Amino acid sequence: MTDRWVALMRQALELAERGRYGTSPNPMVGAVLLSRNGDVVGTGAHLRCGGPHAEIFALQEGAAQAAGGTMVVTLEPCVHQGRTPPCVGAILAAGIARVVIGPRDPNPLVNGSGVEALRTAGVEVVEGVEEEACRQLNRRFFHWIATGSPYVRLKMAMTLDGKLAARGGRSRWITSEASRREGYALREEYDALMVGVNTVLADDPRLVRHLALNPDPHLLRVVLDTSLRTPPEAVLLERDPQDVVIFCREGSPADRRKELEGRGATVVEVGDDGRGQCDLRQVLRWLAPHGASSVLVEGGGEVHWSLLREGLAQSVHAFVAPLVLGGREATPAVGGAGFASPQEGVRLRFVEVRRLEEDLVLIAEVERV
Ligand SMILES: NC(=O)c1ccc[n+]([C@@H]2O[C@H](COP(=O)([O-])OP(=O)(O)OC[C@H]3O[C@@H](n4cnc5c(N)ncnc54)[C@H](OP(=O)(O)O)[C@@H]3O)[C@@H](O)[C@H]2O)c1
Repeated sequence: MTDRWVALMRQALELAERGRYGTSPNPMVGAVLLSRNGDVVGTGAHLRCGGPHAEIFALQEGAAQAAGGTMVVTLEPCVHQGRTPPCVGAILAAGIARVVIGPRDPNPLVNGSGVEALRTAGVEVVEGVEEEACRQLNRRFFHWIATGSPYVRLKMAMTLDGKLAARGGRSRWITSEASRREGYALREEYDALMVGVNTVLADDPRLVRHLALNPDPHLLRVVLDTSLRTPPEAVLLERDPQDVVIFCREGSPADRRKELEGRGATVVEVGDDGRGQCDLRQVLRWLAPHGASSVLVEGGGEVHWSLLREGLAQSVHAFVAPLVLGGREATPAVGGAGFASPQEGVRLRFVEVRRLEEDLVLIAEVERV
């Protein structure tokens, strides 16, 4: 039976993809319902936070043939009353005989109690099918639940010689339109965008979503700005300034703070990181309960360095253009003081390498710091 469960779990994983842009901070989940004699009679995906879970959609489709059947689902079904009723109750009411899952739900409100409730009621539970693929799909969710801190991905558009901008600071555009589009798609997946103040000063970015894939209009936009150098007239503050959070160090100029707050931004003071800049642990600790289970960092090199050095970034999504800008002064993809030897460096593992028009896309996960 194992091969069949694997094939069906892969189908459920594909279904889960439908929720990529809408479920945060919930996980993406897909489900396939089989009748007693093994025919697929229902499929479902969790599409948006607050909406029905995947199991419920599958049950709605195949309700008449669910009794004695099997539910294949990418994550342990929930037992708690959240924004929607518990799925275990619906599974039992439908008379399902077997539930096949990927991993257990790490959410402390579930974490094994869904499996236990099903087994207690006499339902056979098969665990751990395509477990790693299911975890990978929801790596942001697993990280956020396990650590209480947002999942952090660094997005960099760089040249073959590792520059984010040319000498003098100009960076538009290094990569192709297709790469920029993929970068915009990432913005639809993450709860917050983060940049350093030098990027605001150099590029005056809007940091908005362009593709309308995510039904939630709110995207937290975060600036790390030690002494509040963000200009009050920055384009960033023109639209939805209530979604802009500027982190500065304690004791920043009160008049600058007043001006930025006057434009509608939230200014949050954090401690010193020991190098005269914002303490990033405090920044992430503030963001987690303010709607950011995941953060996409869009530069520049100084912020990338700080997050990698502190062990606070989980992955890197790099677009590499076949372009060389050279220049000792040009912004590197990762700046800072640098490590003194390869042994001290941050070790990553490539999880995806592909071509995108003339560029390369490299996705890597941080293995150890
Ligand atoms: N190609 C791309 O994908 C891309 C993306 C973004 C930016 N860029 C380019 O990159 C350049 C800017 O990058 P950059 O490396 O110079 O600067 P940056 O990373 O954008 O900003 C760094 C500044 O952020 C502030 N900051 C506060 N807390 C910090 C912390 N814990 N760690 C690091 N910084 C902290 C500091 O300001 P204080 O100095 O006031 O302390 C620091 O100097 C621009 O030319 C821009 O065009 C390119």
